[in-house]
Amino acid sequence: MKIAVLPGDGIGTEIVAQALKVLRALAKDGLKLEMEQAPVGGAAYDAAGDPLPAATLKLAREADAILFGAVGGWQYDQLPRAKRPEQAILRLRKELGLFANLRPAKVFPELVAASTLRPEVVSGMDILILRELTGDIYFGQPRGMRTLENGEREGFDTMRYSESEIRRIAHAGFCAAMKRTKKLCSVDKCNVLETSQLWREVVVEVAKDYPGVALSHMYVDNAAMQLLRDPKQFDVIVTGNLFGDILSDEASMLTGSIGMLPSASLDANNKGLYEPIHGSAPDIAGKNLANPLATILSAAMMLRYSLNQDQAADRIDAAVAKVLARGLRTADIHQPGTEKVGTVQMGDAVVAAL
Ligand code: IPM
Ligand code: MG
Repeated sequence: MKIAVLPGDGIGTEIVAQALKVLRALAKDGLKLEMEQAPVGGAAYDAAGDPLPAATLKLAREADAILFGAVGGWQYDQLPRAKRPEQAILRLRKELGLFANLRPAKVFPELVAASTLRPEVVSGMDILILRELTGDIYFGQPRGMRTLENGEREGFDTMRYSESEIRRIAHAGFCAAMKRTKKLCSVDKCNVLETSQLWREVVVEVAKDYPGVALSHMYVDNAAMQLLRDPKQFDVIVTGNLFGDILSDEASMLTGSIGMLPSASLDANNKGLYEPIHGSAPDIAGKNLANPLATILSAAMMLRYSLNQDQAADRIDAAVAKVLARGLRTADIHQPGTEKVGTVQMGDAVVAAL
């Protein structure tokens, strides 16, 4: 099994290094993995003038799965959009057809007190946000900036979804719900947006194929509120690209830290890219402060979804739980009475717990 390893920028290199340690430890126990690294994001811009060089895209295409760190950095903020690090991940998602983004937000019992919400609100929470990843206002044309007749500038983007794009993510949502508690909440803004009106109509149509699933609908503003008020009312949430980006960051804080949330971005054949949902965190990069667990848990998702290695994935999940139970915490989830460790120590602890 060949894995393309794309660490990227900022804390990306540090956290991916920890996930690689974990994968190498599994390889020692017989898991056959071939790993090849390539630059992406700002690192690739620096090296080759392009955030997604052709060679990196080729490697990603040919691999069985992709392990991705994070991209972005202040030094790149003034570049023209096409050269900015974020384009690397957006293009990878689009070029590889990775339309289904699974973002599980699960509260580890040990981290209940690390959330900014009251323990009884988050304890036992286990939700899956399914975010559409290759459409919506992220990719809709036309977009741009122009100067109006009165001389002032205007920026514009286009939110659009085709029926087939909605249908396939809806199917993915219902399939995910079937494997869990058979509850699906579709989040839209159909009281205001045409895109969302179509979204809702198509989701209702697709629901006919899944009579066993209880479907509900929620406006995105209400969903943002309900996630804080009573997150445990949700099981699977299916939503568009922009709403999913926002709601998944919000949901991460219920689990204690955005440093805990892994993700899988899958194509129609379950080939996938696996990455933590957080960014490159330039402010803490290179300081051995970042939490590597989201990336390590992303590696577990990779073994589970793209490489069919459930047992190895279970071992990683169990090792992470064990390390947390032993009281080890990176700064983002640290609390009185627990032991503060750095990125590398956390990675080592997970390997030891395997
Ligand atoms: C995410 C990130 C990306 C997104 C950025 C880095 C382009 O926020 O994966 O959630 O907006 O999708
Ligand atoms: Mg985001």
